This record gives sequence, structure tokens and C-alpha cells, in this order.
Amino acid sequence: MKLFYRLIVIVLLFISVCVNAQTRSVKTLESNWKFINEEVAAAKKPETNTTNWETVSVPHDWAIFGPFDKEIDAQKVKVQQDMDDEARMRTGRTGALPHIGVGWYRKTFTLPEFKAGKKALLVFDGAMSDAHVFVNGKKVGNHPYGYAYFYFDISDYLKDGENLLAVRLENLPSSSRWYPGAGIYRKVQIIVKDEVDFQQWGTFITTPFISEEVAKVNIKSEINGENIKVITEIEDANGKMVASKTSGEKFGKLVEQNIAVPNPILWTIEKPYLYTANQKLYVGDELKDVQTTRFGIRSVVYERGKGLMLNGKITKFKGVCLHHDLGPLGAAVNKAALKRQLTILKDMGCNAIRSSHNMPSHEQLELCDEMGFLFLAESFDEWAKAKVKNGYNRWFNDWAETDVVNLVRATRNHPCIVMWSSGNEVPDQWGNEGVKRAKWLQDIFHREDPTRPVTVGMDQVANVMKSGFGAIMDIPGLNYRLPLYGEAYERFPQGFILGSETASTVSSRGIYKFPVQEFKQKEYDDFQSSSYDLEACRWSNVPDEDFVWQDDYDWVIGEFVWTGFDYLGEPTPYNEAWPSRSSYFGICDLAGLPKDRFYLYRSRWNTEDETLHILPHWNWEGREGETTPVFVYTNYNSAELFVNGVSQGIQTKTKDLSKQHRYRLMWMDVKYEPGTVKVVAFDDTGKPAAEKEIHTAGKPHHLELSADCETISADGKDLSYVTVSVVDKDGNLCPNADNQLSFNVSGAGSFKAVCNGDATSLELFHLPTMKAFSGKLVVTVQAGEEAEEIELEVKSKGLKTAKMLIQTQE
Ligand code: GAL
Repeated sequence: MKLFYRLIVIVLLFISVCVNAQTRSVKTLESNWKFINEEVAAAKKPETNTTNWETVSVPHDWAIFGPFDKEIDAQKVKVQQDMDDEARMRTGRTGALPHIGVGWYRKTFTLPEFKAGKKALLVFDGAMSDAHVFVNGKKVGNHPYGYAYFYFDISDYLKDGENLLAVRLENLPSSSRWYPGAGIYRKVQIIVKDEVDFQQWGTFITTPFISEEVAKVNIKSEINGENIKVITEIEDANGKMVASKTSGEKFGKLVEQNIAVPNPILWTIEKPYLYTANQKLYVGDELKDVQTTRFGIRSVVYERGKGLMLNGKITKFKGVCLHHDLGPLGAAVNKAALKRQLTILKDMGCNAIRSSHNMPSHEQLELCDEMGFLFLAESFDEWAKAKVKNGYNRWFNDWAETDVVNLVRATRNHPCIVMWSSGNEVPDQWGNEGVKRAKWLQDIFHREDPTRPVTVGMDQVANVMKSGFGAIMDIPGLNYRLPLYGEAYERFPQGFILGSETASTVSSRGIYKFPVQEFKQKEYDDFQSSSYDLEACRWSNVPDEDFVWQDDYDWVIGEFVWTGFDYLGEPTPYNEAWPSRSSYFGICDLAGLPKDRFYLYRSRWNTEDETLHILPHWNWEGREGETTPVFVYTNYNSAELFVNGVSQGIQTKTKDLSKQHRYRLMWMDVKYEPGTVKVVAFDDTGKPAAEKEIHTAGKPHHLELSADCETISADGKDLSYVTVSVVDKDGNLCPNADNQLSFNVSGAGSFKAVCNGDATSLELFHLPTMKAFSGKLVVTVQAGEEAEEIELEVKSKGLKTAKMLIQTQE
């Protein structure tokens, strides 16, 4: 019987492929690419013998496999944004991974569906960087910006039978301020369709009128061809057709349809409801092209003094900035890895992402649409004036317009996007030319999308107040510079301020330093930063300082914290200290494990669930009798702390002392003695409402494994992230454990990577062994293509081997 159903499914699939084949086919070029780097660096042509080339899958990042090397892209620079007084050697600024140089990719493919009257588009979601693309030995074109989406019409380059695609990429030294990755790190597709077609990225869906009874869905579709007819059907999330329209008004190449959707269900953060527009393009009765576009019905309006009104409701940004790397996976995009990040952030109560400082992946936008995140889609870290010698400044004049147009056109139907950013801390904030550039870019965004506002993350606030730069922006975004918020609000005309980048607090997971006090740019001998969350940079601050502005002034419309996760490169404050090679800014570490700060944001942002978190850990051998402050991050206003049953008093959040006292409960005079720390939190009537304990751990005894997903898809791509904790005999985390662990994955999957979140570790992510850091690390296991079991085995000398089963399913 099962076989019978399978046969039916196969027949149906075959039919749908055939129907599709009449109109358009989309082929994703994933497996069996050939790759080589450096050795053929001098070669400018793709016709190289590939016997020594590696076989890889795309998305691919050639540099993430290391090794780390202090010399790679060491940049001697005076960084204006970091308020450097002189040029300094920055090691690890771009992650100390071998991303510099030339890489060649080759891929053979056949396109039997391509014939007379058809066209073939080769679409890249991103290639790092300076892509030169060849088909069958002929150059098709190039696109320099590594974060841009671009495509070429390759119809004239194709032949019958086997075709050869070759791509040359090159990363120069001093071209980035963080790890950019290297290679074809996002997906590549070939779309074959009729010459009469929906223009690539040419459809724009907006929802200009919304009421309970009806929403007006406006669809503008650019079409190549004459005498055409467009039929659009709108389906709800269950696939039920709720409205449709045949043709519409024609304006040159544009067909415009207004479709009434009855009783619309809105896209919200809590319930991100999605509709689909299925469009068919005909000439006479002949179907020429089909296109499916997902969208949401929602209204995005910004009001003076209030900020974003999402569907008429004030919605403050509780956002984080994210670089594009996925820690141990590097820049190679993986949807499961992105989903895990967003799942962690959702639990924290985060509602918004800023793709700093470049175009986001389509996969990330799809997930934000589905999971209910607002999105600030950024474009550039540089305009015409350089931050790094070989940065985007080399391309700005010739390419900025194309890159912005592609960004907007390729992504504007995502309901999650509620704002564009044309730049981050661009040095063009200085000088009149920069004011003109700001206006020029914003006008391009407006031309391509009149529905969303544009911001720039500005750090030269005093200057942009004078020059007019800040007044031009739809949304004035301030990076840090809290003391200037008030003046900027007064002087700018917009009527609100966005914290486009906030905090930049630094900490290392599970590391605490004494005495406990606020520091700027503090460095320690072990190249770690303290998790008491009181350390920031010269230009930045601790979270509570932002909270005060966010809470006390309605015209502060939210914040994007730098950053949600640690990223490769920019190891401030250890820019000159080897082996620091990744950031300390993350709310979560590079492995995705929450640092203490996660709970501080959660206690404020997640208004549904209880947060009650104690820090530091309680293993301080040698500190007996010494002052060891205890902090509690909680949504409750007050709590009592006990050490070995002895009360340390009640603390209540208050505005009267420091900014920290308003958001954290702090017992500053606790003397360390091993045992149990317990906190009892009180509700607003003073009744005990929740409690939590931590214990001094004994010796490492065994390993505990826990997976974020115990069942994953057998699609060859899905991932399970398994956290490994070194615990004592009673299951308490050993917070100082650094045991060397090794991993073996068998069955229907493979070992993908491992990461412990230590910014100074030079152990390689793709080798199946690593030390625990602060008692933990995370192993990433990848599904194969069989629906079976995967077994992960974790070994460590002196500890019992631990095992975990992960199921893969079709
Ligand atoms: C900002 C910058 C970010 C990052 C951050 C570190 O000025 O926009 O890219 O460098 O500082 O604090």
C-alpha cells in the first residue's frame, strides 16, 4: 500500500515537472562543483585541467577550513570609528582565515529544456567577491560586490549537450572590517523560461488599503512580450484561493492589478500570516510563464514621536545586528543554521534583525517572513570614501545604483522588511559630497520602493546635525552616541530617533573578572572579557544605558544591539592581541550559546515567559571569603538571595541608584563560599513567585548531550546542533572544564563542525575534536539523504563516552 502511494506521488511530481517544463524550470546548481584556489591564481582563463580540483557543494566557503594564521590580512590601520589615536596592527580583524586570493569554480550542466524561443538566466545570490563569470569559455559578465544579488542572461552562450560554467573570484587584502567569507557562499540557479515572461525581480506586491473587511492587494508586474494576459490567483496560507484577477491595466511593460482580498489575516510579529500570489502569463491561450510570490498583508507607517506603527500599533524595535557568517560554518549559507539563530533570538523576545552591513540572504528573509521578525535590510559599509583600502569605495561610483536596485527588486515582496539602510557609519558623513550621496541613494530606494523608509547608521552625529546629512534621512539612525540623542531629536526634523546600533558590550561566555566594575576597552591577560556585562568600548556602552533612553523617551523608536551572535573577525578589545580572532560583542557566543547578557535582554524583551538567571557560576576555589558579587537577570522586580541558606538580603529594581540598578538585581557584597546560591523572586504583591539555584560543581564526571532538533530532514542539508556539557556526578555544569573532546558521527549523517565559543581558540571547526570552553561546546551534525538514524558519539579521556541519536526523516 505504501508503495502504491509512493508511486502516485512520483507520478504527480512527474506531471507537475512536465507542466512546469512548458513554462519555466528552475535548476539549483548545488553538487559536483569543481574548485581550486591560489594555485591557479595567475590564470585568467577557465580552461584549466581540473584533475587536482576539489569537488565541493555550493553554497561553499573556501576559507572556513583554516588554518588560522596571524599574518592573514593583518591590517595596519588607524580606525576613525574606533577613535584610534594612531595606526595599529590589527591581527584577526577579518578572522585570520585564508580568504585572500583567487578561487575558481567550474560546473558542468545540461539544459535539455532550453530551445528556440526560450531564455536562460543564471542567478547568483552572492559570490565573494569580484565575480567574473564564463559560460563555455566565453565571458558572460562580472559583478564585484560580494554581497550583491545579480544575474546574467546566458541564452547566447549555451550549446546543446554539456555546458561549462566557470566563475573566478578574488578577495583582496584590506577589503573588509570583518570575516567576509570566500567563494560562492550563496545559491546559484539557472532559470529557463519563455522569451515572453515575467521580468526577473519585476513584480512588486503592496497592500495600500487594509480594513477588517477587505485588503487591496496591488500587484505591478513587469512583462516582456506583447498581447499578453495575466491571471493572478491569491491563495491563503492553507492553499485556498481567496481572490483572483484576469489582466489589469497596462502601462508599457507594466501590468497593474488591484485585487480585493476579503477578511484579510494580517502579517504580525506574533502571527506572521502569509499569502501567495500565483500568476500565469498568456499570449492568446498559450501559457508562457508562471510565477509564485509570497507576501503578507500588513501596514507599515512611521509616525512622529512614536515610530513604527505596524498595522496601526506602536512597535518598538527590539532588534539585533547580525553579520552574515554562521560561526563555524563560515559564510556558506545554511537555512537550518539561520533558523536556529532566529529560534534562539525569538526566545529572547527579539523582534527585529539588521543585516549589518550588507544585503541579507534570501533564506534569512524567508525565515523572518515565516517566524515574525521585522527586518532592516542594509546595503553598504562604505560609499566613495574608504574605511579599508580595498573596500566598496573601489566600486561605489560605478555599481552603487545597480546594487541598490538589485537589493530592492529582489527582496521587496518580503513582508518582514520594514526599512532599508543605505549605509553604515560611512566616512562620507563628512563633507558636502556625502550629503549629496545620501540623497542620491535614498532617492534610488524611493524610486524602486516608495513604501519603505531609508536610514543610515550614523556615528558622526555632531557633524551630521550641522551638515544636513541627518536631516535628509527618512529615519535618523544613531550608532551609539547616547549623550547626543536628545540634541539630535531636537535638531532633526523627523520627530524620532532610531538606535540603529547600540551597546557593543563585550563579554566571554562563563568568564568573570574581579573586582566587578565598569570598564571601557578593558584588556586581561587571558584575552577574555567579563560576563558581569559592565565592559564596553571607548565609543560604546552597556545595555542598561540604552534601556534608559528606550524607556524614558517615546521618540526613541527602538534599538539594534551590536550583535546577536559573535562573528568571525573584529576581536575588539583585543584587536592587536593574537590569537583573538572573533568578536566578543555577541549576546550569544560564536557557537550560538547564550552568554549571561542573553537573559538581561530576555528579562525585558520577552514579555510572555519568566526569566530568572543567576550569575556568576559558583566555582571559585581560592576566592573563599572574598567579595564575589551576584547578579540576577529577571522580569521580576525584586528578589531575595541566599548563599548556603543564609539570606543576603532583598534587592529591588530602582531608578534611584545607578542605571544598572534599574534593570538588574545586584548583591555586591556577597562573600564566596562553596555551596548553593539560591534566588527567590517576588511578584508585585511581594509573594514568592519563582526560584532558582546554582551549585558549586564537583569534578568533571560525565558528558551531557542535548540537541536543538532530535529529528531533522533527510535532505543532505538539515542540521542538528548538539550542546555538549561537562558535568559533575550530580549533573552540575563544571564551569571551568576545558576537557579535550572528540566526536564520531555514524549512520545517516555526518560531522559538520564544532565550536566552543572561545574567541582565542585556534582549533579548527571542521576537525572532530575540540576543547570545551567554560564547560561547553556545540557539535553540528548534518543530515544525509536517507531517512535513518544518526549516532553522535562524544569521547573524552577519563569520562564515560556519551551517545546521542538523531532521527532523519523524509
Ligand atoms: C560600529 C560598527 C560595527 C562594529 C561596531 C563595534 O561602529 O558599525 O561594524 O564595528 O562598531 O563596536
